[in-house]
Parts: sequence; structure tokens; C-alpha cells
Amino acid sequence: MPTLDIRQLGPADEAAFLKGFEDWGVEASAWHSLTWKAGMSHADHLHILANEFQGDVAPGRVPHTMLYGFLDAVIVGRCSVRHTLNAGLSEIGGHIGYGVAPPFRRQGFATQLFRAGREHLKSLGVDRAFMTCDSANIGSSTLIENAGGVLQDEVLDAVDDDVTILRFWVDL
Ligand SMILES: CC(C)(COP(=O)(O)OP(=O)(O)OC[C@H]1O[C@@H](n2cnc3c(N)ncnc32)[C@H](O)[C@@H]1OP(=O)(O)O)[C@@H](O)C(=O)NCCC(=O)NCCS
Repeated sequence: MPTLDIRQLGPADEAAFLKGFEDWGVEASAWHSLTWKAGMSHADHLHILANEFQGDVAPGRVPHTMLYGFLDAVIVGRCSVRHTLNAGLSEIGGHIGYGVAPPFRRQGFATQLFRAGREHLKSLGVDRAFMTCDSANIGSSTLIENAGGVLQDEVLDAVDDDVTILRFWVDL
């Protein structure tokens, strides 16, 4: 299995970042970025990411680090590491979120992204990661269980009564 280069975006990554939206296709582009908005320059994007990393965040958000996984010059997925939890993330969302674009799935890339996110979170002094996923998301729940995740509980999704959410803790 190829090893991803997992890191924050840099000045030379604009083309790879924009190409990443194409690889997500019809799936919500929010999986590719939580920060970039149409028309935003790459320099402004990097500036906002740096501010968010430092803790200069919009109301309701927490400091976070966005890591991207590069296979050669192509971004296959990302991992968002929340440095701390707020009330919302303590319910659903947790410390670490990840996504791998459809063409690159089932090759262990989310597992690699998660491992990088876990090491990063640990380096920030966090001992245990809170992680959640839709109970129907077999890929994500398998990844969390493989990482030693201990199930805390299963709760109804706040916006969709047909969906239940698994909530785990992973020792770092
Ligand atoms: C969930 C997701 C991140 C998995 O990415 P991936 O790169 O395919 O995951 P991996 O290849 O690292 O697989 C992780 C484990 O899940 C299993 N798995 C992955 N997708 C699976 C699927 N659709 N069905 C069954 N098992 C699956 C893999 O076999 C692997 O388990 P193993 O190591 O015991 O064999 C990806 O499908 C995705 O981005 N989905 C949309 C966004 C999302 O749901 N993010 C997570 C939110 S909680």
C-alpha cells in the first residue's frame, strides 16, 4: 500500500487542492474543505487555516488543524483535528474527522490519515480522542474499532431520527 505524505497545505498546493473538489464529485464538497469558499484565493485560504490552527476561529468553532493526504501530487483525502471539544463536538463530531475521495477508497488511506491525526492530537497533549460516526458508516466504524475505539453509546442523530450515531473513545 502506498504511503501518503500527510501534512498541512502549503503555498505550492493550490492546483492539487482545487483538483480535490473534482475527485469528490457529487458528494458534499464540505468533505474536502471546511474553510475554503468559492472565489477565495489560495493565499487567503492558507491565512485562514493558519489562524484557525492558532485559535482565531469563528464563533462556535474550535482551533483545528487540517491535514491533507498526498499521493504524489494528488490529494486523496483529509483529516481534521480539533484541538479541543466544544458542546456540539462533545455530542457529535469529536476530535478527529476524515474523508477520502471516492476514487481512492478501500486502500487504507483513511486509516493512514487517522493515524496522522491521532499523532498530531497526541502531540497537542490530548490523551483520549472522542470520535463519532453514523452507525451505517461501516468504513468509519471499522477504522475506529481497529484503532481500539471503545464504544461509549449509540444516540439518535439530532437532525435525522432515522440515523443513529456511534460514539467512541480512543486512547492515544
Ligand atoms: C469512511 C471513509 C473515510 C473510509 O475511507 P477508506 O480510505 O476507504 O478507509 P480504509 O481503506 O482505511 O478502511 C478502513 C477500514 O474500513 C473498512 N472499510 C472501508 N470502507 C468500507 C465499506 N464501504 N464497507 C465495509 N468495510 C469498509 C476497510 O476494509 C478497513 O478495515 P480493515 O483494515 O479491517 O480491512 C470513506 O468511505 C469516506 O470518506 N466516506 C465519506 C466521508 C465519511 O464518511 N467520513 C467519516 C465520517 S465519520
